[in-house]
Amino acid sequence: MNELNTRTQKIRIWDAPVRVFHWLLVLSFAGAYLTAESEVWRLVHVTLGYTLGGLLTFRLVWGVVGTRYARFAHFVRGPSAVLRYLKSLRSGQPEYYLGHNPAGAVAIVLLMAMGLGIVATGYATYNDLGPGWLAQLHDLLGNAMLLVVIGHLVGVVVASLQHKENLVRSMVTGFKTGPADQGIQRSWTAVAVAIVVAVLIFWYLQYAHIAG
Ligand code: HEM
Repeated sequence: MNELNTRTQKIRIWDAPVRVFHWLLVLSFAGAYLTAESEVWRLVHVTLGYTLGGLLTFRLVWGVVGTRYARFAHFVRGPSAVLRYLKSLRSGQPEYYLGHNPAGAVAIVLLMAMGLGIVATGYATYNDLGPGWLAQLHDLLGNAMLLVVIGHLVGVVVASLQHKENLVRSMVTGFKTGPADQGIQRSWTAVAVAIVVAVLIFWYLQYAHIAG
């Protein structure tokens, strides 16, 4: 899609579940990373790891049944679209996407895949289910994911500057400016509330387990 010249109205792009998923994912990954090396914080690390797994499982389902811009079919594109987008950035006439742009989508797919790999290897290590190198793979994936997160943040800043729009604010509010008929109709707030409640109950149960 080319740069829109009819960005007239505030329209909803990100539904509430996508936004809650994103910020809980940020919290869980950051918390799990910071507690990774400490024996004292091990149960917090494991709890945040399970949270990451639950969030990613939800997102896989939501990527199929969710709203327009949340669907994988809407934003995952092949290498030629990624290259075309990157070239358009260099040319100074960036292709505009109301949802995730093709390069951002690469980072998003990588982050989700790495997150799932980290959860699987962490689970196996914690429960003594596999060979010893799984623990090393778990560490390696955690550090690799941090690098992709840094790339993701650089991408968000570059795209925000190029398109002169605040992408972080959109990931908080769900809104962008665009043609009225391109917005999603429903926010699905109840689903987002259910995610938050489920996470809080899980954290409370884990806390009760640790304290008790
Ligand atoms: C642990 C760190 C992070 C991870 C794992 C992560 C992961 C993701 C994922 C998976 C998405 C896709 C959301 C979806 O479609 O469901 C996304 C999008 C996004 N993230 Fe992050 N993120 C991280 C940190 C951040 C931070 C710190 C910010 C901002 C300060 C940020 C800003 C954004 C924005 C603006 C988008 C939407 C990009 C677009 O408009 O295409 N992310 N992130």
